[in-house]
Amino acid sequence: MDKFIIFGGERLTGEVQVSGAKNAVLPLMAACLLARGQSIIHHVPALRDVRTMVRLLEDMGTKASLEDHTVSLDTSMLEKQEAAYDLVRTMRASVLVLGPLLARYGRARVSLPGGCAIGARPINLHLMGLERLGAKIELTGGYIHATCDRLVGNNIRLDMPTVGGTENLMMAAALAKGRTIIENAAREPEIVDLANFINQMGGVISGAGTDLIVIDGVEELQPIEYTVMSDRIEAGTLLAAGVITQGDILVKNCPVEGMHVVLDKLRATGADITVNGKDVRVQMSGPIQAIDIRTQPHPGFPTDMQAQVMALMTIANGRSTISETIFENRFMHVSELRRMGADIICEGSMAVIRGCDFLQSAPVMATDLRASACLVLAGLVAQGATEIRRIYHLDRGYEKIENKLEELGAKIKRVHS
Ligand code: EPU
Repeated sequence: MDKFIIFGGERLTGEVQVSGAKNAVLPLMAACLLARGQSIIHHVPALRDVRTMVRLLEDMGTKASLEDHTVSLDTSMLEKQEAAYDLVRTMRASVLVLGPLLARYGRARVSLPGGCAIGARPINLHLMGLERLGAKIELTGGYIHATCDRLVGNNIRLDMPTVGGTENLMMAAALAKGRTIIENAAREPEIVDLANFINQMGGVISGAGTDLIVIDGVEELQPIEYTVMSDRIEAGTLLAAGVITQGDILVKNCPVEGMHVVLDKLRATGADITVNGKDVRVQMSGPIQAIDIRTQPHPGFPTDMQAQVMALMTIANGRSTISETIFENRFMHVSELRRMGADIICEGSMAVIRGCDFLQSAPVMATDLRASACLVLAGLVAQGATEIRRIYHLDRGYEKIENKLEELGAKIKRVHS
């Protein structure tokens, strides 16, 4: 298992490019199942989750190639409509194939994703919505067995604005007969990217980005060529690296529209943030100011940036609070940060952080993707050499983060072991 060694204390400066968005490209790849033929997606990040999705689609009979940030997926010869446990257990987003398989083939057999480190993460709303469209769903042997004749549009109200649920239902409804209305839909920018993708395929979706999405089903969709949006969470993480190291970084190609709340919170830490088109410059000098955050569905503060902000708060001036409202167990980084000298008290979904003068290096362990990013940020300022183990989590969602940080001046190396 690879690990990172980070020698803290370097001020980061220079320019860095944001890669394509993991949480946008995975649904787009699943959506390729909606059309017969070869679709091509550009700006694809080189990530383990993307390779897992390629394997999953190949396993069904898709002809795939992934080269130089472009994936091509030809679904003409699909042999089976199945997502097996071995792949689904390594990546929960595999469940996104359920909606498109059902809509195009009238059947799907998809392993039920289990819980994961950050929470139980049920998919009851995905299944409820598909049933509202006319699917018959049985859960046996750890699998979802879903069948239907042609799906029929309906009104679906989600109890909570689930991102994956909204995506699965949008894909299913795109080929359903008639109109589907999703109420209390998730509003994340990745939902908008998926709607744009499906519309370019010939779909008729409006309202994506609001809480009411209207989908008029069509008979058939066409394969297309598309460029996926950039990753707002990677962009936010790189900006946070600028803040924590008192740096001056130009983060290029940010999806700025979906980042306002994160940029505002980083400004509140004392950072000077300037936006020029898709480029965001962060300049930090002076103490980091304590801020309070509460994670919420978009357009609120994203849970996927919570851990990174906590790293900043460990050395901030004063007391900050972080309230995590999306996942029930997303404070796994707290105990690792404490090992580096952070003063954090957790009670339920609330963490209280008292900023300390400095962090000390320690061997720490990554537990999930964003917790790992938090530890990298902490390592960038800790005194001494921080060893971060289990960085395979980072490889799921950050493309070559060590190279990007190194080019900005960080002393970070990957050790293969
Ligand atoms: N939920 C239910 N029932 C459902 C679906 C969701 O109770 O049927 C609950 C979940 O348990 C959770 C909340 O609703 O407490 C939100 O879950 P959501 O479905 O919105 O999350 P997701 O689709 O599973 C995506 C991202 C996550 C990101 C969340 C929230 C992808 C592939 N994953 O997950 O990304 O944290 O939305 O924004 O898009 C990450 O990148 O590190 C990551 C975990």
